[in-house]
Amino acid sequence: PRVAVIVVAAGSGQRLDAGAPKAFVGLDAHSILRHALRGVFAGPPAQVIVVAPADRLGDALTDAHEAAGDLRDLAVVVPGGHTRQASVAAGLKAVWPDVEIVLVHDAARALTPPAVFERVVAAVAAGRDAVIPALPVVDTLKRVDGPAVTAAVDRAALAAAQTPQGFRRDILETAYRVASAEHTDDAALVQAAGFPVFTVPGDELSFKITTPADLDRARGLVGSAVP
Ligand code: CTP
Ligand code: MG
Repeated sequence: PRVAVIVVAAGSGQRLDAGAPKAFVGLDAHSILRHALRGVFAGPPAQVIVVAPADRLGDALTDAHEAAGDLRDLAVVVPGGHTRQASVAAGLKAVWPDVEIVLVHDAARALTPPAVFERVVAAVAAGRDAVIPALPVVDTLKRVDGPAVTAAVDRAALAAAQTPQGFRRDILETAYRVASAEHTDDAALVQAAGFPVFTVPGDELSFKITTPADLDRARGLVGSAVP
């Protein structure tokens, strides 16, 4: 395929603290990773590269094959690194030669709808170098200095970034080659390398499972059969 999706799932999940690496925590009978991959395989045809903890490669391959069904030949599993950025870099090395568009997705955003993958791929295919799904900020935000509020922040000028983030393959590879610092997401890394980044609409269901409250929310949504 022309598209690859790197699903980063190599984190430990310290904030979730659920007794297992986060991607392998269950939402129902199925893990966070398995749910995330269901959304990925329901999106545009793509090579799917799962980046997993080194001691969980077999579990990750099982989840990938179960989620892939007939598409199992498109699934690849590689070991991750000590940071998210190192894990993405490891995934990037496994992208097949014919791929032109690379998406990077957090397994922790397990309920991301397939339509978001479609939107991101479509925007890159239409000519954008780098595309992220984003949502308007709903909270009233303040700039602070310790306990003191120093300024109001215009939330209309802000957006909350999600994944999958999509890139022209050559641009993402260049940005990773020249990266000299740790960035919180791939869009920041690509922007630091001098490339423009654009948004497409995100989705409320793409929230990242980070805390126990997020896990409860995801389990409730799966239980009520929304995704
Ligand atoms: N990730 C990764 N490799 C790492 C760190 C993170 O592949 N070394 C992945 C996680 O598996 C997750 C995504 O990046 O799908 C977003 O990271 P985060 O939500 O912070 O997950 P964890 O790092 O596992 O959680 P925590 O920070 O609470 O330990
Ligand atoms: Mg983390």
